[in-house]
Amino acid sequence: MLKLQNVTVIYPDKTKAIDNLSFTLNAGENVALLGDNGAGKTSLLLAIAGVLELAEGTIEIDDMQLSKKTLNEFRKRVGLVFQNPDDQLFMPFIYDDIAFGCRNFGMPEEQIEARVEETLSQLNISHLRNRSSLKLSCGEKRMAAIATVLAMNPSILMFDEPTAYLDQKARRLLVDTLKNLQHEKIIATHDIAFATEVCDRMVILKNGRVENSAAPNS
Ligand SMILES: Nc1ncnc2c1ncn2[C@@H]1O[C@H](COP(=O)(O)OP(=O)(O)OP(=O)(O)O)[C@@H](O)[C@H]1O
Ligand SMILES: [Mg+2]
Repeated sequence: MLKLQNVTVIYPDKTKAIDNLSFTLNAGENVALLGDNGAGKTSLLLAIAGVLELAEGTIEIDDMQLSKKTLNEFRKRVGLVFQNPDDQLFMPFIYDDIAFGCRNFGMPEEQIEARVEETLSQLNISHLRNRSSLKLSCGEKRMAAIATVLAMNPSILMFDEPTAYLDQKARRLLVDTLKNLQHEKIIATHDIAFATEVCDRMVILKNGRVENSAAPNS
């Protein structure tokens, strides 16, 4: 379970992107984060991922509160798939992109190899193992970016606009892939049809606050 209480995020230029926001992601839940451009979706995901510091409030996963001291442990529990896969893929081969996080955590190379292979096969992208992200399609890049996060075995998966630039076939593959992943998920998107298909609940943000929260089609 993820619990945010009275979270405020302020950028260095004083923009208040998240304003006293409280939100709970229950066990097993898939939540869509909706809202206009600038509503605060990306900022919220970055705050939960421990990338943006909180001006106020608390974020907890199960019994662990996000702080400077718990940051490394916290980051193992939440994985964020960035809006732009190019921000996540920067090694010469996809294999190394996927291994990168595990290597950072100091996992033995043998274990990393098993984890990478398992992740590649889970997402049906074993054929991309020795390719460079520079030469992949948008759909392939999206899957590879998901793999880099999945390999670290987080309990919560977060996605920022995962359907952006995908054609119908890649989008369908993404829907099926996400439905098969048993993790709790938070998905920031403008794609309502996608959100309805994949998520149990919609949370609408406006000016950094929760404006509305509802089940799809309600
Ligand atoms: N690095 C930054 N520095 C200052 N302000 C920022 C920064 N990034 C975002 N903001 C501001 O924070 C607010 C929330 O932006 P955010 O990117 O979180 O919105 P969003 O809901 O993800 O929008 P979109 O749908 O366009 O992706 C906006 O007012 C934006 O201008
Ligand atoms: Mg955004």
